[in-house]
This record gives sequence, C-alpha cells and structure tokens, in this order.
Amino acid sequence: MAEMRVVKFEVLRFGPETDTEPRFDTYEVPCMEDWVVLDALNAIKDDIDPTLSHRWSCRMGVCGSCGMLVNGRPVLTCAAFVRNYTGTIRVEPLSNFPVVRDLVVDLGSFIDKIKSVKPWIIRKIEKDVGQGEYRQSPEQLAEFKQYSMCINCALCYAACPVLASEPEFLGPAAIALGHRYNMDSRDEGNAERFDTLADADGVWACSYANECSQVCPKHVDPAMAIQQAKLTSALQWLHVVPKKSFT
Ligand code: SF4
Ligand code: FES
Repeated sequence: MAEMRVVKFEVLRFGPETDTEPRFDTYEVPCMEDWVVLDALNAIKDDIDPTLSHRWSCRMGVCGSCGMLVNGRPVLTCAAFVRNYTGTIRVEPLSNFPVVRDLVVDLGSFIDKIKSVKPWIIRKIEKDVGQGEYRQSPEQLAEFKQYSMCINCALCYAACPVLASEPEFLGPAAIALGHRYNMDSRDEGNAERFDTLADADGVWACSYANECSQVCPKHVDPAMAIQQAKLTSALQWLHVVPKKSFT
C-alpha cells in the first residue's frame, strides 16, 4: 500500500447564519505522496467533517473553480501539491470577495465585471453564415492568444492590492479580456468597450503591482494587458489612433 503522510491543515470556517466571525479548524489528514490540497479538502469533507464547504469541478486546472488561498497565496488547489509545503498548511477563501460559507466566495462582482467589457466578437455588419468565416492569420492570432487563455479563476483578483482598497476597480482578468477582443482582427467593437476600459475604475486604477501576473496559473499576464490597454486608450483619447468602428 502506498505510504501516507499525516499533514496538519488549518481551514477557515465561517457560516454567515451562525457565526459572528470566522475561525480556523484544524484537521490532521493522512495524505498520499501525489495528493494536491484539493484532495486533502475532499478527504476532510468525506471522512472527517462533512460540514466543510468548498468549490471544485474539473480537478485538472481547467474550470477555474477551486481557487483558494493556500498559506496566503492564491492558487488552484487542484494544482497545489501537498508535498511542496512544509509544516501546517493554512487554507482560506480567496481574498477581496465576500465569503458565502467556509472556502466558498461570492464571485458575482467578478462575473459582472467580465460581462461589462463585452467579451465577444462585435461586428458592425454581420456576414451571413453562407458567406464563410472571418479568416485570421497565425500572426494576427498571436497578437492576442495569450490573453485568451483565461479560465476565470479570479486568482488575480484575490492577489490585486488595488482591489483590496478599491473594490470598484474593473480588475486584471476583465481588462485582459476586453483588451483581447480589441486586439482581435475580426472584432470591430473597440469603441463600445472604450468607456468601460478607459474609465477611472478601469485601466487607470492599476498601479502595476504585477501580483496578478505572478499568480495567474495560465500565464495570461494581465498586468501586461493592462499596460498595453492604457497605451491604446491614451492614444485613442488623443485621437492618435482611431477606435475601431462605432466612432
Ligand atoms: S487572468 Fe489568470 S488569474 Fe486572472 S482569472 Fe484569468 S486565468 Fe485566473
Ligand atoms: S477543479 Fe477545476 S481548476 Fe481546479
């Protein structure tokens, strides 16, 4: 039988209906060598304390739903190997979001911000399907491909020091996504996104702490997207470059 190592976990617990403030519960969990933190949380829920609430789905770094703070750092718990931590492992919900229960946060504001940048291809006049697809060269795809790898995990929002003090900030993932569509050669909706991205709560609120890019599990580099979007919006405001369509 594979060897198990007992690891101590401190897990934040909070039930808004019953608790006035959060507390940490401690669990000693026998862990296999290849376990990730999510496996340990599932073991706690299955075998030790079924009242624990946490969120996950794919277990393979794709769905973006298992983000939490592990020893204070935002990570995907399905990709955080227990063997890479020493001593007690502390697990908390993502910061900068209201806690629903235990390790589950309310991502409603995050989803609203993502929607506000209109993250879809906008055309002034749509072609009929029979007229064929909108073609794009590999070079045109390379312009924005990195920014299209986001899995909406919200780790960048938990890491952002601006969001900690200015919750209205549009935030890294939403700006990177809006910028991704603005850079897409098939898109003509730049002017429709301008007010949201160039707003005081948009790109200009970013202080370039770069924490978002450091925690991003998909190497989207939202900090770079924000700096590029700042330059674009400044040039558009000065009318040095046109807003694509709808001007
Ligand atoms: S930009 Fe990166 S950290 Fe932010 S939501 Fe997307 S994948 Fe997650
Ligand atoms: S469970 Fe889907 S990204 Fe971790």
